[in-house]
Amino acid sequence: MIFRDFLSKRGKHIEDNVDLSAGTLAWNLRAKKKAKEMSGFINATIGSATEEDGKLMVLPTLVEELRKLTGDQIFSYANMRGENEFVQAWKKDTIDTYPSYLQEEAKTFSTLPITACGGLTGGLMISAQVLFDKGDTVLAPNSRWGNIDNVFFKNLQLKESTYDLLDNEGNLNFDDLISQIQRAEKEEKKFGIYLNFPNNPSGISPSFEEVKKFQEVIEEISIPTTIFLDDAYEGCAYEDSVIEHSLFPHLIGLNEDVITIKVDGVSKRYFAYGARLGLVTVGFGEEISDEEKNKVRELMAKATRTNTSSAPKGIQVAMSHVLNDSEKNKQVHKEKTRNTSILEERYNHMKKFVGEKESSILQPVGFNSGFFGYFQIKSKQQASEISHKLLEKGLGTVPFENSKNGLNGVRVAFCSISEKNIEKAVDILYSI
Ligand SMILES: Cc1ncc(COP(=O)(O)O)c(C=O)c1O
Repeated sequence: MIFRDFLSKRGKHIEDNVDLSAGTLAWNLRAKKKAKEMSGFINATIGSATEEDGKLMVLPTLVEELRKLTGDQIFSYANMRGENEFVQAWKKDTIDTYPSYLQEEAKTFSTLPITACGGLTGGLMISAQVLFDKGDTVLAPNSRWGNIDNVFFKNLQLKESTYDLLDNEGNLNFDDLISQIQRAEKEEKKFGIYLNFPNNPSGISPSFEEVKKFQEVIEEISIPTTIFLDDAYEGCAYEDSVIEHSLFPHLIGLNEDVITIKVDGVSKRYFAYGARLGLVTVGFGEEISDEEKNKVRELMAKATRTNTSSAPKGIQVAMSHVLNDSEKNKQVHKEKTRNTSILEERYNHMKKFVGEKESSILQPVGFNSGFFGYFQIKSKQQASEISHKLLEKGLGTVPFENSKNGLNGVRVAFCSISEKNIEKAVDILYSI
């Protein structure tokens, strides 16, 4: 039997183009293996926050609520669109993080979310399927989460158009994105823009001024444009100058030709990575009727139903109990703040040591948010070569390289390094 003879064109394309040995999970496996052989090994590969003792950081109130679920609450089918009490509460939970002057607008210009099975990945997949065909153009930053390549460019075979997110000094710069938008407007009938802040891998988020500049460009767009807003790390910002909530309310209500698809989920927002629950909210550029909003939401639900079907029920019920009970809600937010403060402390340590030390090979970018520090490579070496060397020296990192768009850097997940190990991690990093 030659299995390849059975494959569809898509199957062949996935077989030939998707490489699971290059991604974060593969580097995490390498790091875990090395950690067994080498005492004091630091695993900074994976974007899951851990406690000082290495255990996964969770929210006790949510764990407790999950423990209390009945068989029926876990094992019965969930509503296709998401459990109503949960999606209502999720929308409120999201809007509450926006500045008060943007909250009403956010309600007016957006749908109620629908749930997506398989976390944010599922949400990105179904929304891209509904809006784009093979060969349609999506602008994506060169500094990006590797699996978006798998979803958008390898599975769906959308056409990649890359923009530089960072300048040579490693600071956020929207100039290239702006010129790519202007080019796409001339060359395409419609196009997409993938945005992800705090960015994986660079750990960068924009300031209010930078977003304002971007808003002015959005206002001028005159062909159908979809912004995919990947909000995996929303709410994790460590500098006053940086926007600490989603860009969503800043991108809607600006232009009837621009819609924004907000993709978020419990994975990082509620420290529940394995719960595999994502959400998709559609935001519009102009005010539309409730009927029209429901139609758009229903389409997203149809896309979900015809792809992965309904999302897991138990986590929705538990989240709904936590969000809808004022005491539990207060408690879970206290626990979230506690976790984020620990991440902030690690960030501060990382910034301090990176600022004090020098490397002739690695240049830190201006990371200011999220779970990661990111280092561009100044020499001719490939990021994967450097990550292999670091592995031997006792530090697990993830290389990000793409010869086509010049991406070449190493990501250090400070979210999973204990505070006491941060200086050692930077020492190993800079010893390369
Ligand atoms: C930027 C970004 N988007 C999406 C995801 C995927 O989220 P999920 O695990 O919920 O599918 C990740 C996970 O690491 C990510 O870093």
